[in-house]
Amino acid sequence: MSTDSNIPVKYAYKGANLISFGTSIKLLFTGYLVTIGAGYLMALTQILFTHGMADGKFGLSLDDIVYSYYGDRSGSVLESKLNGSMKMNAPDQERFKIIQWVRDGADEAKYNADIKPIVEKNCVICHNANAGSLPDFSKFEALKKASESSEGATFASLTRLSHIHLFGISFIFMFVGVIFSFSTGVPCKYKYPAIVMPYLFLLVDIASWWLTKLNPHFAWLVIVAGAGLGISFAFMWTVSMYQMWILGGVLKQSDRRNAVLRD
Ligand code: HEC
Repeated sequence: MSTDSNIPVKYAYKGANLISFGTSIKLLFTGYLVTIGAGYLMALTQILFTHGMADGKFGLSLDDIVYSYYGDRSGSVLESKLNGSMKMNAPDQERFKIIQWVRDGADEAKYNADIKPIVEKNCVICHNANAGSLPDFSKFEALKKASESSEGATFASLTRLSHIHLFGISFIFMFVGVIFSFSTGVPCKYKYPAIVMPYLFLLVDIASWWLTKLNPHFAWLVIVAGAGLGISFAFMWTVSMYQMWILGGVLKQSDRRNAVLRD
């Protein structure tokens, strides 16, 4: 792509493309791209908070991915959460008491004597019967279950996440791809892959969750596929906005009957 100032006019009158579209269509496309761009940033933040904290440290690492899908077979969800995203919810001394109890086999008598009051004081505000998807730690059984060693994501949750992602993300890339396919002057060797790659990376991404569930060595594939999705999204988004608003511009024409190309 060149920034030659003649380009807009050269492409604009050749037919329907991102440069020549009327302002209404550009506004419509831009509204969608900006909203979906904000959605993408939110999704990344969400990943940082849920998976990013899985190993107890902020930021996404291979360990996070292994813990999220394969699990931390050497420890329990309760222990890894108490060292991770639940760390701020109890003073160190009380956290260590719960962790020690987990390591000693999560015995019910010791629970009633020592652990129950700590959990009731620090955890049950959020982890109660009305907390929806959060485990209800007012019950011994729920805490006992969380003290067993972590197997990562369950097959049921992976199935649910997979179908939501396959349907949802392919829809997003359908529209981003339709908008981008109206770009002009982008060499085919970039344009075709940019349109196809999101679907390819999406399939690889979902497949890599399942593979990582079975074997932790596939965790790197989750990162590669996620990065590939992000790069194709950023490329199509930037080229589309650039062509509409920087190469484009409102073409003054008195005949406004063509609703696609005129305002
Ligand atoms: C301010 C609300 C809040 C408090 C207080 C809180 N939690 Fe949580 N807890 C959450 C939320 C939200 C999640 C889900 C997000 C996550 O996993 O980080 C969660 C998740 C968990 C999980 C993982 C559950 C699962 O099945 O994946 C464990 C274990 C846990 N908390 C333990 C504790 C313990 C132990 C305490 C008390 C020391 C505690 N939490 C206090 C809000 C809270």
